Amino acid sequence: MTTPLIEAVDLGKSYGGVVALRDVSTVVRGGEVTCVLGDNGAGKSTLIKILAGVHQHDTGELRIEGESVRFASPREALDRGIATVYQDLAVVPLMSVWRNFVLGSEPTRRYGPLRLLDRNRAREITRKALDDMGIDIRDLEQPVGTLSGGQRQCVAIARAVHYGAKVLILDEPTAALGVKQAGIVLRYVVQARDRGLGVVLITHNPHHAYPVGNRFLLLKRGAMLGAYDKSEIDVSELTRQMSGGAELEALQHELDRVVSP
Ligand SMILES: Nc1ncnc2c1ncn2[C@@H]1O[C@H](COP(=O)(O)OP(=O)(O)OP(=O)(O)O)[C@@H](O)[C@H]1O
Ligand SMILES: [Mg+2]
Repeated sequence: MTTPLIEAVDLGKSYGGVVALRDVSTVVRGGEVTCVLGDNGAGKSTLIKILAGVHQHDTGELRIEGESVRFASPREALDRGIATVYQDLAVVPLMSVWRNFVLGSEPTRRYGPLRLLDRNRAREITRKALDDMGIDIRDLEQPVGTLSGGQRQCVAIARAVHYGAKVLILDEPTAALGVKQAGIVLRYVVQARDRGLGVVLITHNPHHAYPVGNRFLLLKRGAMLGAYDKSEIDVSELTRQMSGGAELEALQHELDRVVSP
């Protein structure tokens, strides 16, 4: 088998006295989706912040294409092809769609001794990249803040694909979305995967993870509750594990007692 894009081996991380992550391992391969599931505070964001260079791990090892690394900044992770789309999206809401799209990679043209933003070229790049992924946003002058949550996620995915990311990390891209919009975002997740990117998809929702995922990492209070390849688990078992299985059954029992006369 080829070397994974990312290998996390027994990663651990504390914030002061709070252990946010303990001995967590997973792999991310090109053309596959690794799903990270878990309840609030499970450590999902902490894990991806380590992969994205926002935080450093205290223990364990992070390997990128076989090489042991410790990113000092998000820029370093990005330079290794790891693009992250955060839930609160790092976009400038008042800037146009195209301006956001080329942010940090602006095409320029010479004007005497000056280099100026080539607006027309930037619009073309954005239009083509969105068209390539089948994303329909009519008005590129529209401020990004006026797009729907789903549209914003789609633009962010197209941007990562366009600028040549190898790994695309999505932190709860479907959390705030309705059923239809979530479906559309998941379709672009699949497109990114089919273009050979390794995708890390964080979600609370096993019904969003299961259809697109190749492997599932379940976290609970910073530790691994389980790790499964798709062939090893079905959606109902994944749901059961996510909801704490036995705990939920006990709660159901409790509720039945309270509700019934
Ligand atoms: N910067 C920080 N400083 C201190 N504690 C933190 C920090 N970030 C996270 N934590 C703690 O680490 C634990 C894991 O948090 P994390 O954000 O990784 O969870 P999560 O799985 O992403 O949760 P959610 O579903 O709510 O986004 C929590 O107990 C949280 O309070
Ligand atoms: Mg989180």
